[in-house]
Amino acid sequence: NWTTGNVIEEQVEAIRALVGDKRAICGLSGGVDSAVAAALVQKAIGSQLTCVYVDHGLMRKGETEQVEKDFVAATGVQLKVVDAEERFLNALKGVSDPEEKRKIIGREFIRVFEQAQAEIIADEGPAVEFLVQGTLYPDVVESGGGTGTANIKSHHNVGGLPEDLEFKLIEPLRKLFKDEVRMVGQELGLPEEIVQRQPFPGPGLGIRIVGEVTKERLDLLREADAIAREELTAAGLDRDIWQCPVVLLADVRSVGVQGDGRTYGHPVVLRPVSSEDAMTADWSRLPYDVLARISTRITNEVRDVNRVVLDVTSKPPGTIEWE
Ligand code: XMP
Repeated sequence: NWTTGNVIEEQVEAIRALVGDKRAICGLSGGVDSAVAAALVQKAIGSQLTCVYVDHGLMRKGETEQVEKDFVAATGVQLKVVDAEERFLNALKGVSDPEEKRKIIGREFIRVFEQAQAEIIADEGPAVEFLVQGTLYPDVVESGGGTGTANIKSHHNVGGLPEDLEFKLIEPLRKLFKDEVRMVGQELGLPEEIVQRQPFPGPGLGIRIVGEVTKERLDLLREADAIAREELTAAGLDRDIWQCPVVLLADVRSVGVQGDGRTYGHPVVLRPVSSEDAMTADWSRLPYDVLARISTRITNEVRDVNRVVLDVTSKPPGTIEWE
């Protein structure tokens, strides 16, 4: 007899018994899984848990604040935020190649996370013996299944690290599917924006800028992305689409006209997709009036963006993200 209440109760008891008077660490990404896992463990062991959030400067508008303020307010969790924007931007300087970007972001992420971890371990208090991970049932099946799926892009995930440290894992969501995780999150009182969040890649906006990643370009993309998300939400379409990456073609310019003047700006691409599991996807047939509103607002409100184009490629052959 499955209820979210049962799951929470059962897990809280098991985690308490397991952890005893030791401490645990959890990496937060801003995504649903790590947030719900952390909230569950927090409910069980309170201040014996410390969460780490690495702000790599590649998040979308408002997302870091959601974790820093709303998540903490909802859970009372002990949170260590590491502002590493400059470090990531420096490491990404001059890099345009997608795989190289992914590797750099993944590598820097591990370094920053390990540093934070070492500081927590060095704090006064009981030994830190546990690492919390938001592993879901499909992840368990996938990694054990050995289906031989080719690795198309090197994925980056919070918490799947570091390999050489001897933590015991706490994976309270191991038996759950995504929709069940959302229900548990809701029951735990997490903010709607986190519980209902659509997938967002670990390397963040870094892989949604085709070309070099700079602070200025990130700011442009953040504005454009925020507008697209706002309009999709206002149109009630969040549940209909899997996600809608907005991609900045930073190395492309085209001529436009605005007011009395010629412009020479960048295009952004809208990539709305529908999917069951992200393995395959189809482009979403969004209503024209919603697309029109997004396009008008982005070109009016985002400096240097003078064109909005729609990606009408399914997966395969296109991937969902552009890099
Ligand atoms: P692709 O682009 O491979 O994306 O069709 C499939 C799904 O995975 C997300 N994605 C990632 N998620 N770390 C993640 O946690 C990553 O490095 C990563 N790369 C892509 C993507 O947003 C889509 O939902």
